[in-house]
Formats: sequence, C-alpha cells, structure tokens
Amino acid sequence: MDMPVRRPTPVRSKPIPAEGEDGLFRQSWYPICLSTEVTSGQVIGVPFLDGKVVVFRGDDGIAHVTSAYCPHVGADLSVGKVVGNHVQCAFHHWEYDGSGQCVKTGVGDPPPQSACLFVFPSQERFGIVWAFNGEEPLFELPDMGVPDDELHIWPYKYHRPFHSDPWVFAANTPDMQHLKAVHGAKFDHDDPHDTIKWDEWGLEYNVKAHHQGGVPIDWNLGLRGTGFFWRNGTYGDIWCAAVTGFGLPSPGMHQVFGAAMVRKGPGQDERLARMRAITERTIGEDDAILDTIHYRQGVLTAADRTLARYLTIVRNFPRAHPSAPYIR
Ligand code: FES
Ligand SMILES: [Fe+2]
Repeated sequence: MDMPVRRPTPVRSKPIPAEGEDGLFRQSWYPICLSTEVTSGQVIGVPFLDGKVVVFRGDDGIAHVTSAYCPHVGADLSVGKVVGNHVQCAFHHWEYDGSGQCVKTGVGDPPPQSACLFVFPSQERFGIVWAFNGEEPLFELPDMGVPDDELHIWPYKYHRPFHSDPWVFAANTPDMQHLKAVHGAKFDHDDPHDTIKWDEWGLEYNVKAHHQGGVPIDWNLGLRGTGFFWRNGTYGDIWCAAVTGFGLPSPGMHQVFGAAMVRKGPGQDERLARMRAITERTIGEDDAILDTIHYRQGVLTAADRTLARYLTIVRNFPRAHPSAPYIR
C-alpha cells in the first residue's frame, strides 16, 4: 500500500489588499503621463484607478489632473478642448478652471455651484505629470541630491503595462536578493538590512556593489509609498539618478514611467545615453517576472527581512478613493 504523501501546509501571511479591493486604492503619488504628452492647449484622457482622468494644460503652462466626466450630463472631457486656462466640454461647451469649478455654461446660464470636477493634487517632476490619490499628499516626491534644474533628464514610458499592482514593482527596491539574482549586483558588504532608514512611508538605504561587467556602484536607493522608487549615486565614474514610477490604470495593472538623469554639463548626452541603456536593460530583466508574478508573502528567510518589513507597510498603507464619485 502506498504511504500517504506528507507535505507541509503552505505558509501564507495575511493577504495584502489588492488595489481596488473594497473600492479603495493606496494613497500614493502615481505617474499619469509624460509632460510632453500634454503641451499648452492640449487635453488628454488617461485611465486611472478604476476610472478616467484628464490632464489639460492651459496658456499658463500648468498641467492639471482632474476627473474626466463633465458634471452636466457626463460627456468625456478628453474629447473637449482647452480655451485659455479652462477645459471646455465638447457637448454643451461648459468650461472648468484649474480648481475644477465650472466657470461658464455654453448658453450663458449661471454655472451651478455643484458643477465641479475632482482635482487631484498634482505636480510635474522629472518630465512626468504625477497625481496623488487623495485630497492632500501625505508625502513628497524625492529630491535627487542635485537641484532639478541641474539635471539632464530622459523621461520615458514603458511600451506596455504590466499585469500586477504597482506595489509589486515597488517591492523590488527592498528585495535585496532580487538585486543580485535578477540584476547581477554583487554587494561589496553584507546585506545592509541594519543600516536602512525607515519612516512611516518607506525606506532609504545605501549599497556599494559591483554591477554587471564589474562596474562599481555606490547608490542610495529609496521608496516612499507604492507608486515610485528612486536611486542616486555613482555608476562607474558617472553620477546618475533615476526615478521609476508605477501608474495605476486599473486594478491589477501598472504602467511604468521613469526618468534617467545625469548632471548637466560637458558630455551630458553621452552620459545620459549610457544610463538610458542601463535603465532599458534593467527593466527588461524585470519584465517577464513582474508581468506573470502571483505575488504573495509566503516563505521568507532572514535575508528577506527588509522586504518583509516593507510588505507590512504596504499591507497597512492608508487606502482611500475620494475621486470615486467623479471618475467613473
Ligand atoms: S455634458 Fe458637458 S457641457 Fe453638457
Ligand atoms: Fe528589479
């Protein structure tokens, strides 16, 4: 008689809530579009969270991120146009200013006070338009250690979305084992679990290592929230920085945006081209894994302790959806 197969019960930590679970999304900064996708006088539509937003830029050059649907009878403002500093609905020509308020109806009726769009906290940094899922940002985008106007930047949008929530890619930064296994980094020291600086929203740490081809790297890595991570430091003899952002076009998906950066100055194009090539190669290394991963916190070891602590932050991260009545 065959003996029954004995196998251990799978280890599963408390599940990490998926984006959109209970109708809520993590309160983070998310990239929405490249700055170059919205020039002055343009409006575009972008899927975000479980709905749609528009980004419009008026004569004043300021990009606004608002709910996409007109409060009159619901036309999509992305097929409207920009008039001065307002976005105008194509259907009956109601106009909205950057505060989201209707300031004009097409036929001259006084604009109803309740006719307003949801305006996301937004900003443009590193050639990318970002929006915060919330009424007020809980934290800021990072500084690269060099003033933004001294940076020569290559902003990009990955050619396709990935089939996982944004925090899955964000969890790459505290996942030191993957830096070695996937990206071929050899640390010059023990894993720096004990020198990590934690705060309420994320972490920062320094790693000295040798990358593929033996290139020495000395990088500060960090992330805050679930919508972006960054690094800055030296790659061989080049000072460089990078921000990688994870847009949230719908639950269970993320769209990678990013910016590779070097200091402005002689040879800036060659240095940036080198960093661009490394950025493209690195995302290519992550691509298949992140697109197919069925991420769950299962059996972790001591070498995963920084990742485990970050996953606890993700699990408990504030979730909200104040734009829900507007963007769907
Ligand atoms: S639906 Fe937008 S003005 Fe009527
Ligand atoms: Fe990675």
